[in-house]
Amino acid sequence: MKPGFENRVKTMLDSVRARVDRKPKLGIVLGSGLSGLADDQEGTAIPYSEITGFPVPTVEGHRGVMTVTEHCIYLAGRFHYYEGYPMDDVVLPVLLLRGLDVETLVLTNAAGGVNREYTPGDLVLIRDHINLMGTHPLIGPNNPELGPRFPDMTRIYSRELRGVAMESSDVPLREGVYAALSGPSYETPAEIQMLNTLGADMVGMSTVPEAIVANYLGMNILGISCITNMAAGILDQPLNHSEVIGTGKKVEARFKGLVSRIIRNLAG
Ligand code: HPA
Repeated sequence: MKPGFENRVKTMLDSVRARVDRKPKLGIVLGSGLSGLADDQEGTAIPYSEITGFPVPTVEGHRGVMTVTEHCIYLAGRFHYYEGYPMDDVVLPVLLLRGLDVETLVLTNAAGGVNREYTPGDLVLIRDHINLMGTHPLIGPNNPELGPRFPDMTRIYSRELRGVAMESSDVPLREGVYAALSGPSYETPAEIQMLNTLGADMVGMSTVPEAIVANYLGMNILGISCITNMAAGILDQPLNHSEVIGTGKKVEARFKGLVSRIIRNLAG
């Protein structure tokens, strides 16, 4: 993180605190096509454009609204590295949530299935990740008040939270390893074969920077991927973004149900 970053975070925090005084302990980042969950919540909705210093998302299927309810802060819309945002912007939402006293972070995303046992529409709990984005959000001077210079990454995704998610689901959930690449192209079949060999179950272009920073800040993390398509070369057909959005829409009701139950169980 760049010097001066803390001042940016402080400005954002001031601008949110001026609008809400609730302090939920839970936060959730809603990924591609999954942001509808925020619409169903009663709370204070703050467009990102009204949070001083916060970037505004640009990609189709992502919006930019923070909704603060009694138990949870919902972020509909995230900032992707492939959009050209610097890593500092990509992880700003996590610093904002931590600054607002959120302790438990749920990260959701759309991902391509690398594991051949997966089917589009599956919801998979992230057990671990592989960072292949070619960069790292903690490069730069370290502020020891935020976290250690060399954070342990052995247990980023909380086993307890995965247990809560399992108990909240009416069908058994899979667990898998999420590999993050920068994008914005989808992968080649050779790259997907490589990821499979490396032990990845799914592939995407987000989540990992946020998880690295949330772990650094000492937050409890739950990651959920919605498998929107089989990754390149797994099936004999090309990939397209509308398929990703379309599958996201189809499983939205199931995803919303699961996440709502998880939030209820975590809040209760
Ligand atoms: N690859 C990378 N990111 C993705 C994919 C994919 O196949 N599907 C959804 N996000």
